[in-house]
Amino acid sequence: MIVSNDPYALAAEAAVALRELAGVDAFEVALVMGSGWVPAADALGEPVAEFPMTKLPGFAAPTVAGHGGTIRAVRTASGHFALVLLGRTHLYEGRGVEPVVHGVRTAVAAGARVVVLTNAAGGLRPETQQVGEPVLISDHINFTGANPMTGARFLDLTEVYSKRLRALAREVDPSLAEGVYVAFRGPTYETPAEIRMLRTLGGDMVGMSTVLEAIAAREAGSEVLGVSLVTNPGAGLVGKPLNHEEVLEVGRATAARMGGLLAKVVDKL
Ligand code: HPA
Repeated sequence: MIVSNDPYALAAEAAVALRELAGVDAFEVALVMGSGWVPAADALGEPVAEFPMTKLPGFAAPTVAGHGGTIRAVRTASGHFALVLLGRTHLYEGRGVEPVVHGVRTAVAAGARVVVLTNAAGGLRPETQQVGEPVLISDHINFTGANPMTGARFLDLTEVYSKRLRALAREVDPSLAEGVYVAFRGPTYETPAEIRMLRTLGGDMVGMSTVLEAIAAREAGSEVLGVSLVTNPGAGLVGKPLNHEEVLEVGRATAARMGGLLAKVVDKL
């Protein structure tokens, strides 16, 4: 196996290996299952292949509890193939930007014209948001200090998160709210002062993922649907410390609803 130094060539290599290992020629859609979303994946359809991400060139094993590090190929109810990434690499793991977006780049190289990015997030608007509620990402603020693109290649980000896909998700569930997702690098949760700042700046959810993958997917020409599961109010909003176990627990408790939502959206694509 030749492993390339160029991240785009590496993703193309991984896509070749993926098609072969999964026995699938082209995937229509890819879904990245973030913290708390892994249990929802079972609703997506019948698995036709499943293997550790590390079997493909360029994938590192995720180090976070609740991020499985597994790739699953699924045949959906409508007979299409979905690529499900159970787990992701985060910027805070310290491996740099390229491993963070490698899954999305590989998925697009394997045919995915739609990329669904899910995450767990702190809610910045407890006045209107409930813990356990999915919120469609309408836009983002990238406070990670990183960008998956380098060089003088100026990509328009007016509509990172597709209006068409958000409308489709609302056909499935008209009660879905929309919001602006803010990403910090992590791994610390935010301070109460940062949470107040983000509210002032127009953020609605805060987390440590998604924005770099969304940019990489747009760069590669895919449409993006982003969904945050609000697992807790942001730090300081309710006077209770945050912990990762609570984030995973909300995911387990809402898995059936989240899985059903994603399965229905994928079927409408
Ligand atoms: N902040 C950042 N990331 C998160 C949070 C949060 O409050 N909840 C789940 N992921």
